[in-house]
Amino acid sequence: MNLTLKIWRQKNAKENGEMVDYQIADVSPDMSFLEMLDVLNDELIEKGIEPVAFDHDCREGICGMCSLYINGEAHGPDRGITTCQLHMRKFKDGDTIYIEPFRAKAFPVIKDLVVDRSAFDRVQHAGGFISINTSGNTQDANAIPINKNNADAAFDAATCIGCGACVATCKNSSAMLFVSAKVSQFALLPQGQVEATDRVLNMVKQMDEEGFGNCTNTGACEVECPKGISLENIARMNREFLVASLKG
Ligand code: SF4
Ligand code: FES
Repeated sequence: MNLTLKIWRQKNAKENGEMVDYQIADVSPDMSFLEMLDVLNDELIEKGIEPVAFDHDCREGICGMCSLYINGEAHGPDRGITTCQLHMRKFKDGDTIYIEPFRAKAFPVIKDLVVDRSAFDRVQHAGGFISINTSGNTQDANAIPINKNNADAAFDAATCIGCGACVATCKNSSAMLFVSAKVSQFALLPQGQVEATDRVLNMVKQMDEEGFGNCTNTGACEVECPKGISLENIARMNREFLVASLKG
């Protein structure tokens, strides 16, 4: 395949960016999207041009680093996958592909396609943990009975990889799907009850302080989430927040 790539180039957080055109030839349909960018970068380096900066790590859909907006969709045109799992067979010869960073006030661009998602880390630090005694007297997890439906729902929530596609997709740049997944994975388990009140209040407070927008129930986040995180988590977080506010 021969393709035209229109890629967002931005030197640093302070300077303005712009879309720049690149031609790439002989792209195999079996290449992953990131491998295609690797080939482009090799060609740019050979020509003495600064390669395109983009985030990636595991390249197998686990770490949540590969945050690209491709042809107007977070993680590109496929469903239920991350950018690193997207293959070039989804495109055809002669296509023009627009490649942009995830855009949100709380995710400032660092360089080219790389954005700063440390706001998510700070939300996690505010309450996305449980306190367990690990001094050698830890209770065997299997000794605590947990309702199967709750265990399954907690596990589903825990599959959130913190990629930020929900924020990038939302017209309000809301982080509600991410934060609600992190709240839900503990809210449904007995181990998560000790800090439950503080957790939801502190995580929502931090979310607001980071500049994420409000949820208006559009549901685009659920559609674009590579891990199929359900809107039910947002409803659960709202219930948790209401109860915690009344207690607090
Ligand atoms: S909820 Fe989905 S889209 Fe949002 S950060 Fe988690 S995995 Fe990514
Ligand atoms: S590089 Fe890890 S999820 Fe894509």
